Amino acid sequence: VATSLRPPRLAGRRVLVSAGPTFEDIDPVRFLGNRSSGKMGFAVADAARRMGADVTLVAGPVSLPTPPGVARIDVRRAAQMRDAVLAALPGQDVYIGAAAVADYAPAETLPQKLKKSGDSLTLTLVRTADILADVAAHAARPRLVVGFAAETSDLEAYARDKLHRKGLDLIAANDVSRPDQGFEADENALAVFWRDGRHDIGHGPKSRVATELLLLIAQRLEAME
Ligand code: CTP
Ligand code: CA
Repeated sequence: VATSLRPPRLAGRRVLVSAGPTFEDIDPVRFLGNRSSGKMGFAVADAARRMGADVTLVAGPVSLPTPPGVARIDVRRAAQMRDAVLAALPGQDVYIGAAAVADYAPAETLPQKLKKSGDSLTLTLVRTADILADVAAHAARPRLVVGFAAETSDLEAYARDKLHRKGLDLIAANDVSRPDQGFEADENALAVFWRDGRHDIGHGPKSRVATELLLLIAQRLEAME
């Protein structure tokens, strides 16, 4: 019973989470998107709230209910997600970038529906800003910046490369080539890397995987104090 008297593990912490895909509009009826359901990011926000954190969730277009007690900001495009995340950044202790942000967006969004003509179509796409790298380099950088890495091969090498290149504290990698985890699935497994460590979170419901990730984040925060 003594455990119930202990404050929740993330009490007093402010956690900002991004989740879901981004949709980049081509014209009023078409967009470029990706297969993120938002389930993992929403599970992360829910788990952080359950552990006592004050949670803000910046969500791309998903059809998921807002976890109880979580402040949600809806966005559509990568540029809007970046603006919302940077605006919410001051005072956050942790940023968790779980969104599957589009890497490229159409150079322009057409005001009218693009009519078909000819046998092929070439669209010009331009790189989007890397929200996670911008958060890690920001003057209002949270003490802990956590990324996700969706990979289909060489998980550890690619994840560690992102950890260093983007200046992150932790990166949670998942193998999206496995049909039972990652995008759209209800279950997941993660390999979490930091500069001198690794922790594997075994396959299970995204809620359980999220809780284990948040416990690791709480430990890393405590270790910094
Ligand atoms: N990310 C971001 N902004 C982007 C692209 C990615 O914030 N424009 C973040 C994601 O939220 C995730 C992390 O970067 O936390 C890694 O995303 P991922 O797509 O795996 O990596 P990329 O750096 O985009 O590299 P690539 O897609 O080429 O593997
Ligand atoms: Ca990407």
